[in-house]
Amino acid sequence: EKGTYPHYMLKEIDEQPLVLRKIIQKYQDENGALTIDENILTAMDEADRIYIIAAGTSYHAGLVGKQYIEKMANVPVEVHISSEFVYNTPLLSSKPLFIFISQSGETADSRAVLVSIKEMGYEALTITNVPGSTLSREADYTLLLHAGPEIAVASTKAYTAQIAVLAILAEVTAKAKGMNLDFNLVQELGIVANAMEVLCGSKEEYEEISRSFLSTTRNAFFIGRGMDYYVGLEGALKLKEISYIQAEGFAGGELKHGTIALIEEGTPIIALATQESVNLSIRGNVKEVVARGANPCIISMKGLQQEEDTFTTPEVHELLTPLVSVIPLQLISYYAALHRDCDVDKPRNLAKSVTVE
Ligand code: F6R
Repeated sequence: EKGTYPHYMLKEIDEQPLVLRKIIQKYQDENGALTIDENILTAMDEADRIYIIAAGTSYHAGLVGKQYIEKMANVPVEVHISSEFVYNTPLLSSKPLFIFISQSGETADSRAVLVSIKEMGYEALTITNVPGSTLSREADYTLLLHAGPEIAVASTKAYTAQIAVLAILAEVTAKAKGMNLDFNLVQELGIVANAMEVLCGSKEEYEEISRSFLSTTRNAFFIGRGMDYYVGLEGALKLKEISYIQAEGFAGGELKHGTIALIEEGTPIIALATQESVNLSIRGNVKEVVARGANPCIISMKGLQQEEDTFTTPEVHELLTPLVSVIPLQLISYYAALHRDCDVDKPRNLAKSVTVE
């Protein structure tokens, strides 16, 4: 039920702090330490390489998850789009473990990969929001998102839930391997939940940003580096699917290799600056496009902000920034769709779960 909300999408965006707190709680043992099923840990420990398979928004969460598993648990990870993997299977390592990320657990493209890797004799873990879904039943192991039903076609709370569960999986795997992390994930996720709450309270600002940057534009570009690049891909997908504005996400450094040709007077560029290591270089990219007439909307994180920034998020651990920086992007897309009279919860040509290949 959407209650007093005009749209499920808005309700689901607002649920994100609550969902995150629920996930932390669901994955804690009685002493408050994060924990997951021993069998999953054994599979993670035995794998020499992890293959993440997903589509759309879940693929974007997988890109972030790769960073977590590699940086925290030191296991190499590849992330593949499911529809590509089926017909273009990469060379596999000798002990692969497959992780399927799927909100619905019903995506046919992902299922096709699951069927084929099971035939090859490999193990699979599904991260899904739907217990008993096809991808959950057919995999060896399941981790649940605990996000509650996601009704709006555009995925929001499932994305942040997927990222949170991947962070927990990476942390617990690292601990099981005897590695020490220099931060407390439970504590840092708690800080994120508070930041999410603050961000969900700034609706008028997003509505205003959307009005000033997106009300008449034909297209929009999202740029970032590292984690911010991945979040930009998700921001562009959100914007295009519900507002029908042509949107593309780019790695900041790639702009000058082609896309910069598209910049005209007034073209909106949404730039993310939440990573200290690339803060200066992404701002350099913004200068390049501004010199060609672009209209820059810079979303930074506290501690890295500069005077020209449009919006600044609260500060969170640098690995966890996607969980906060995506919220302004979700809401800016929501208002862009509203301003254009689009059907926010049921965009044209799209279905909530894509059960055909
Ligand atoms: C985007 C969106 C889609 C899905 C994709 C995968 O907002 O909803 O891109 O993310 O179809 O769906 P699942 O996660 O159910 O496998």
